[in-house]
Amino acid sequence: MWLALLLCLGLPSSGGLRLPVNFWLLSRSGEAPPPHDVQLCNRCCQNIDDGDAAALAANLAALESCAVAVELGPEEGGAPPPPPRVVELRPGELAEQLCARGPRAFQLPRRGHPLEIGEAPFDEGGLGHSVWDASIGLAVWLTRHAEAVRGARVLELGSGVGLGGVAAAAAGAARVTLSEVTLSEMTRSEGTRSEMTRSEGTRSEGTVTKEARSEGPLGEGGADFGGERLLRELEANVRRNGLEAVARVVELNWEDCLSPEYEPECTYPVVIGSDLVHDEVYSLRSLAAAVSAFTEVGGTAYLMSTRGRPGVERLPLALSSLGEVEEEEMTLFNSYGKAELVLTTLRRRA
Ligand SMILES: C[S@@+](CC[C@H](N)C(=O)[O-])C[C@H]1O[C@@H](n2cnc3c(N)ncnc32)[C@H](O)[C@@H]1O
Repeated sequence: MWLALLLCLGLPSSGGLRLPVNFWLLSRSGEAPPPHDVQLCNRCCQNIDDGDAAALAANLAALESCAVAVELGPEEGGAPPPPPRVVELRPGELAEQLCARGPRAFQLPRRGHPLEIGEAPFDEGGLGHSVWDASIGLAVWLTRHAEAVRGARVLELGSGVGLGGVAAAAAGAARVTLSEVTLSEMTRSEGTRSEMTRSEGTRSEGTVTKEARSEGPLGEGGADFGGERLLRELEANVRRNGLEAVARVVELNWEDCLSPEYEPECTYPVVIGSDLVHDEVYSLRSLAAAVSAFTEVGGTAYLMSTRGRPGVERLPLALSSLGEVEEEEMTLFNSYGKAELVLTTLRRRA
């Protein structure tokens, strides 16, 4: 099934259309994507082979009614699409690092035009530097379940480059707040952070340097989090998609929410997040504290995780004191492989 998709990737663009470089199909766990959707993807590939731009445009439009995100190459005249490649093929972590030059473009279900998401270099954006598979799964899910966010104020935790938050805004949320931690926050969390945020109530304006990053919470050479550069990229992604009127970017460190004195600026009827559980790297306790602090009573939190990551199986328990927790297992197929995801939904009670 996937061979046909692979064959078409990286073909030169034609007919003024942005060519697909990958197809992301979301289905229930244990179920293959609907044959109709796969056929449409394969027809797109055939259309490229045939140089039939009109048929390609029609098939891409038809894909907008499916649970499929079509990743598009650069616009005509831009840099040629990068050769497709998959980095670090570990179980459950397929194709998260598809290389891309310039912003990546995702045509999402029922969206007139693709969402553009710029990424940051790893050493400037830490683990949030790129679009992770779970955020593509969340984006497809949100656009297929727009009623979950339509007209609501939404907070995205650990936005990274923000595909989930941008997709929520595009799906009709009234306001979206995208949040990330800065390097200065995390560096401070090793020692002085708590005193600074609790007693002074201010955030430090620490300077972000590579040297500082290597001394981050995971130690020399370890993975790192967020940073000023990532916050700027998030803001750029809001602007790229013309969402400045509905979306804003803020600094938010979940660790702060562990303090009994922590008072959130406001609470939200909808909280979202993707790929936020990796218990050896981020603290599940602090994530649960942030969900607790920001999800209003009667509100809902939707967290899309990658199955198999440490701590994911403990997320329902970590949230269970806050309300009803449901889990739905899903598979996100793409032209290279698949990622196993789980959507954890918390309905907050008083
Ligand atoms: C694997 S990345 C996922 C990014 C994005 N949600 C996605 O799916 O593409 C995890 C994100 O959580 C953020 N994060 C980790 N610990 C955090 C904390 N204590 N407070 C706020 N964000 C945190 C990281 O900076 C990173 O952007």
